[in-house]
Amino acid sequence: MRWLSKQYDQVIGTDISSHVIDKAHELCQEIDNATFYVNEADSLPAEVLPSSIDMVYVFTVFQHIPREYTLGLLRKIQEVLSDNGVVVFNLVSCINENKNDGIAETEWAIGYSESQAQDLLAKAGLQLQKMTKWSGPESSASWLWLAASKKV
Ligand SMILES: C[S@@+](CC[C@H](N)C(=O)[O-])C[C@H]1O[C@@H](n2cnc3c(N)ncnc32)[C@H](O)[C@@H]1O
Repeated sequence: MRWLSKQYDQVIGTDISSHVIDKAHELCQEIDNATFYVNEADSLPAEVLPSSIDMVYVFTVFQHIPREYTLGLLRKIQEVLSDNGVVVFNLVSCINENKNDGIAETEWAIGYSESQAQDLLAKAGLQLQKMTKWSGPESSASWLWLAASKKV
């Protein structure tokens, strides 16, 4: 938020957890162009208006939530993106690509293959701009990083 607030006129932070948002608010008190909201599991706050957002950044969220919620959020993101807007997000890959649940309180992960990721974008009405796969040496899991825009 701090970095983004220097690049853009207004920045909005959202999370499903009110505790997280309270803490973010507290840590960002000196940022005068930031607003924070709590969002529902598969949608964005109503205050985030259609076609109003130039850049959406979602970092390490979608591996934690059922596939239908990820799709719901990406559809909402598609609605709020401006015509030249871009969404950047990451997905866990190469593990749990057939799972849609896990054990509570653990770092369980719902994974996406590259073709599942492309399918997700298509269903959300988003156009892939760039996809990069990153693998660390310590695990068989990888991260897919995606940049996408509104389908024209
Ligand atoms: C691994 S943390 C990443 C937090 C933050 N993006 C960061 O980089 O520090 C995952 C976050 O996703 C949030 N989260 C889980 N489900 C969500 C949902 N459906 N919508 C929005 N946030 C969600 C959690 O509350 C948690 O703060």
